[in-house]
Amino acid sequence: MNIVDMILRKKEGKALTPQEIRAFARGAADGSIPDYQLSALLMAICFQGMTAEETACLTMEMMQSGDVADLSAIDGVCVDKHSTGGVGDTTTLVLVPLAAACGAKVAKLSGRGLGHTGGTLDKLESIPGCSIEKTQAEFVRQVQEIGCAVIGQSGEICPADKALYALRDVTGTVGSIPLIASSIVSKKLASGAGAIVLDVKTGSGALMQTVEESIELAKAMVDIGALAGKPILALVTGMDQPLGTHVGNALEVKEAIDILAGRAGGDLLAVSLELGSRMLVACGIAADVEAGKAKMRAALESGAGLAKLAEMIAAQGGDPRVCEDTAYLPHAAYKISVPAPCSGYVAAMDTTQIGYCAQDLGAGRKQKTDVIDPAVGLVMDVRLGDRVQAGDSLATLYLNKPELAAPTIARMQAAVTITAEQPELPPLLYAAVSHEEIIRYA
Ligand code: URA
Ligand code: CA
Repeated sequence: MNIVDMILRKKEGKALTPQEIRAFARGAADGSIPDYQLSALLMAICFQGMTAEETACLTMEMMQSGDVADLSAIDGVCVDKHSTGGVGDTTTLVLVPLAAACGAKVAKLSGRGLGHTGGTLDKLESIPGCSIEKTQAEFVRQVQEIGCAVIGQSGEICPADKALYALRDVTGTVGSIPLIASSIVSKKLASGAGAIVLDVKTGSGALMQTVEESIELAKAMVDIGALAGKPILALVTGMDQPLGTHVGNALEVKEAIDILAGRAGGDLLAVSLELGSRMLVACGIAADVEAGKAKMRAALESGAGLAKLAEMIAAQGGDPRVCEDTAYLPHAAYKISVPAPCSGYVAAMDTTQIGYCAQDLGAGRKQKTDVIDPAVGLVMDVRLGDRVQAGDSLATLYLNKPELAAPTIARMQAAVTITAEQPELPPLLYAAVSHEEIIRYA
């Protein structure tokens, strides 16, 4: 198999053969194809796309590049969820403990930050002592014992995705339907769960910015699931502003804890309930979405969800006291406000730019080897539709390097559009996509 030949043919828009796709996935997994050739092929795929057959083939080859987990030792249907990624998108840390407190078995493989989006693994690692590495046997035991585990891909699960994901993060090759679909679905198939719920983000902070593209991505993923015999449901949800108010690793953990403690709510909780209720339906614990939401709310109000998060953190070696007092999380040295440059309504946000602002402060990687600062990031002080006076705080930056304040304030101000007219607010839930049907809510 000649890799240069594959790059050239994909560059011209031709389809790769199943043998070539296998060689690509294996070469990524075992490191025999160098990063520069993988990167060139990824970029060609970004520009030229892949057919549904190529995407399904790449997914299966990536899944088979490593082990497929056996979760049969766990009682009941294991359920997994995954987001295409967003900004302030901490649904996992809210809904996994809530769903587990309702009796679901949640065996979740999460990712690191990708491009401008944050990653659950980086967030979990901001909790002192918390580890996201487990052997397969430890993972199964933890899910069986406490009902949930959120870990990273071990070396044996989807090594092709692990290699390609890290390269895509730093080569501008994240936003491609075949690459996203194969990355997510290969991991979800390899993780061994019986039911899968996906959160496909849409809007200015999503990998896919239009609703139609997002539905196309959702459909691509549920169709591959159907081919592989795994039921997948995908919700298309809004990402036209950070979902929660907090953006950054320890900051997002704090917001999840505040929600589970009943001190916060908003869109992050709303989307967590939409996804979590469908997970309860998928594993047979709730009869329908409304019943699922009622169970999730009861687990929230009783404190069972927060107790479950503390149990999960402890099982993964972390300090569970963060759940009682978020002062145990790492703190940034400086807090600086981003003033509104003029008066008016907050009409739009370039949420991708807001994600990059958090990355600039050290919350994400610009190069594969960058080390994340768990404490830094930003907290939004406004939401779309809010009225502000010039000088009001749009957001508060949490930083450890004061010299980053001025450029980040300018970038944040440019990312928020303020207008004289009151804007129309975007919906939060756009569609539910299964192999059988597409239900549009907005
Ligand atoms: N999450 C993934 O795991 N992969 C992607 O490509 C995007 C989001
Ligand atoms: Ca993610």
